[in-house]
Amino acid sequence: MKTMQLFKKKTTKLDNYSLKHGVGLITYDDPSSTITEQFNTIRTNIQFSSVDKKLKSILFTSSASSEGKSTISNNVGVSWAKQSEKVVLVDADLRRPTIHKTFNVSNRAGLSSYLLGNASFEDIIQPTMVHNLYVITSGPVPPNPSELLGSMRTQDLFTRLEDKFDLLILDAPPANSVTDSQILASKVDGVILVIPQGIAEKAGVAHAKQALETVHANILGAIMNRVTKQKSSGYYGGYYGGYYGGYYGTEGKDKK
Ligand SMILES: Nc1ncnc2c1ncn2[C@@H]1O[C@H](COP(=O)(O)OP(=O)(O)OP(=O)(O)O)[C@@H](O)[C@H]1O
Ligand SMILES: [Mg+2]
Repeated sequence: MKTMQLFKKKTTKLDNYSLKHGVGLITYDDPSSTITEQFNTIRTNIQFSSVDKKLKSILFTSSASSEGKSTISNNVGVSWAKQSEKVVLVDADLRRPTIHKTFNVSNRAGLSSYLLGNASFEDIIQPTMVHNLYVITSGPVPPNPSELLGSMRTQDLFTRLEDKFDLLILDAPPANSVTDSQILASKVDGVILVIPQGIAEKAGVAHAKQALETVHANILGAIMNRVTKQKSSGYYGGYYGGYYGGYYGTEGKDKK
């Protein structure tokens, strides 16, 4: 007997579109859209997730690749900068970088160049079309990202950036495939897990959470990505620690 497929299954396929074209910046392109409003809500929830101490640095990761880390961290960065806070967004994904494409800036001197001693602090900070938002691109892909990110020079850079900016945002690699995110998570005030609904594996998310806890990362909460309208009601309080925003990203708003 044939059964009818009612919904198109979301796939876990590696998505290389953003590597070539960057991610969609709806917060910049369409400031009055409901999705931009949802990013503003996410920003507010992150701000309120740390009441005792003002967050100076946050990191976005997920369990696997192509789950929306760059889309969410970059749009949250725009939303934050629009509140007149001086924000620096760092492409800490030295394996699958996208920030230079998204903001259309040069990637000749970036994070890897600084960590290797090939560029100065001033060289790597680039302004963007968004007032108050600055980016540090990945720089050329190095052969040893984990080693570079674990160096004292990384810690020193973050300290300098926290001094110069109101907020440091790291767009990091996935937590399960390489140790980069664990290394970075231990150096920031808070970590946010991006979880695409219907795509992320439950065991994978649990593993990512555990990996982050091993390095005593301060997990602020999770963002459910790609939640469809019909599934968003009654979804509050899903994952540990909190749930930011509502649903985000209707199929129609895809950049493709
Ligand atoms: N909510 C959404 N709705 C529609 N498309 C989305 C949504 N979130 C992400 N995408 C798309 O999914 C693809 C992967 O997103 P993105 O590059 O942000 O993921 P990533 O986790 O940073 O990937 P990588 O592991 O390569 O760094 C992109 O083409 C992006 O436009
Ligand atoms: Mg990315």
